[in-house]
Amino acid sequence: MDIKELGPIGAELTNLDLTQLSKEDIPHIRQSFLDYSVIVFRNQNLNPIDLKNISRLWGKALIHPVFKGIENHPEIIEIRNYGEKYHTNAHWHSDVTFEECPPDATLLYSLEVPEEGGDTLFSSQYLAYEDLDMDLKSSLSGKLAIHSNIGVLMLSGGDPKDAKTVEHPIFREHPETGKKALYVTEAFVKSIKDLDSAESRRILDLLYKQASKEEFIYRHKWSNGDLVVWDNRSVQHYAEHGYGDATRTMHRLTTSGSKPF
Ligand code: SIN
Repeated sequence: MDIKELGPIGAELTNLDLTQLSKEDIPHIRQSFLDYSVIVFRNQNLNPIDLKNISRLWGKALIHPVFKGIENHPEIIEIRNYGEKYHTNAHWHSDVTFEECPPDATLLYSLEVPEEGGDTLFSSQYLAYEDLDMDLKSSLSGKLAIHSNIGVLMLSGGDPKDAKTVEHPIFREHPETGKKALYVTEAFVKSIKDLDSAESRRILDLLYKQASKEEFIYRHKWSNGDLVVWDNRSVQHYAEHGYGDATRTMHRLTTSGSKPF
């Protein structure tokens, strides 16, 4: 197995068939995931069972709280082209932060991708935290953001009355690396606790800009058979559209996590 760095974050792990992993490969893959936050494996041939087997390197495969999984594999969601207008992942987010214990890792496997468009962008939230203005860092230290599932609930035809919120720290400490990361997502955060709404809005807008600065980003251009695994504790991602009516079919799976602190 060789490692090729991809940008400010991300690394490609080459010369590896994920269906034939040796015992020695596993700690290297785990460590690369912690070191680079996004890891890429190209030219893989993975069926849903393979994908679930690989996901065990990061934890228990989760069933999405809102979206229904594929037949016989409720943990795997199929992402398809529903058209630019209904493309719901074109915003910066970390996955499922509206849960008490959001998933640690997401695995996204490309079955069929367009020649042009459909890139996924990943932004390092370690770098976003490190680079943040010192005064803002200290004034927001210990503050909580309120995350809500209302957006995904309504997309899936649910009743907004069933929406729920959870509170997570604005700066989260990674439980394995000990590093701090910015942890507010434009997709799910509604406000900052204990701030009036104008001030909360002003600061969130600043933080969202910070979260997605060009210099923190790795852009993944997909080929069929890529598996990308990212660490939701230190990364946000953004799925671009720009492929018209072309086919783009992916399998996505998340693994168990813990309460952010
Ligand atoms: C996601 O946001 O989880 C999916 C990303 C993508 O389709 O590129």
